[in-house]
Amino acid sequence: MARSALLNVMVQAAFKAGRSLSRDFGEVENLQVSLKGPSDYVSRADRKAEEIVLAELSRARPTYGFLGEESGESKGTDGQHRWIVDPLDGTTNFLHGIPHFAVSIALERDGNIVAGVIYNPVTDELFTADRGKGAFLNDRRLRVAGRRALVDCVVGTGVPHLGRGDHGAYLAELSRVMGEVAGIRRLGAAALDLAYVAAGRLDGFWEDGLSAWDMAAGIVLLREAGGFISDKTGGGKMFDSKNVVAGNERIHKELLRLLK
Ligand code: IPD
Ligand code: CA
Ligand code: CA
Repeated sequence: MARSALLNVMVQAAFKAGRSLSRDFGEVENLQVSLKGPSDYVSRADRKAEEIVLAELSRARPTYGFLGEESGESKGTDGQHRWIVDPLDGTTNFLHGIPHFAVSIALERDGNIVAGVIYNPVTDELFTADRGKGAFLNDRRLRVAGRRALVDCVVGTGVPHLGRGDHGAYLAELSRVMGEVAGIRRLGAAALDLAYVAAGRLDGFWEDGLSAWDMAAGIVLLREAGGFISDKTGGGKMFDSKNVVAGNERIHKELLRLLK
């Protein structure tokens, strides 16, 4: 599978940050027993991963803008391009020694996401997509699942928690969806949730309160895998609404019906 030069830069950055996260993840288990737990250590691992990604990307494309969860926004001299990066998606999993987290890197051109990479260093699964050229898991072409009835579907979601989200509104949504599907999963890393829908592992996904870096790479991946993604109204302004609904054409529509 031939990757574009830009996608290659993104993949190399994700690998390098992933190696750093893997090493730090090895230490996290040892720190669980300490009174304070590994939280400071994890914050450092997170920031280090973003520094690695930023260094790699800006070495290759020094004029591009950058939006990273840890370092915020820096405008580039090139007004057209912006990297959108979550160096560690699934921090709570990482902190608790649960091996389900990823580096997520997207490239935006004139306001559209044109390439995305999501890499889980523990499973060594690399999800990539270049707009117009398909989505891949390592070297395998991805396609969303074909299920047509909610009753057969496993759907991912994000559950609000202490200090986050509207718990009452979420419970109402959950009760509508759970009454119609085969299963619900809360895996804890939104970028991987979207990658899993692209890979046909999950039939659908919805979550509120996400940021651009949680969803950017997943958006292009999902679309290149033939999937549909929108905000809860069915519109395309997910960075503004902060919510996403995803699935194949049919399941996306069904979830929109339940969530509207
Ligand atoms: C979080 C994860 C989680 C989602 C949260 C995100 P972080 O990102 O993607 O699955 O439910 O809304 O903030 O903090 O681990 O990068
Ligand atoms: Ca995140
Ligand atoms: Ca993060």
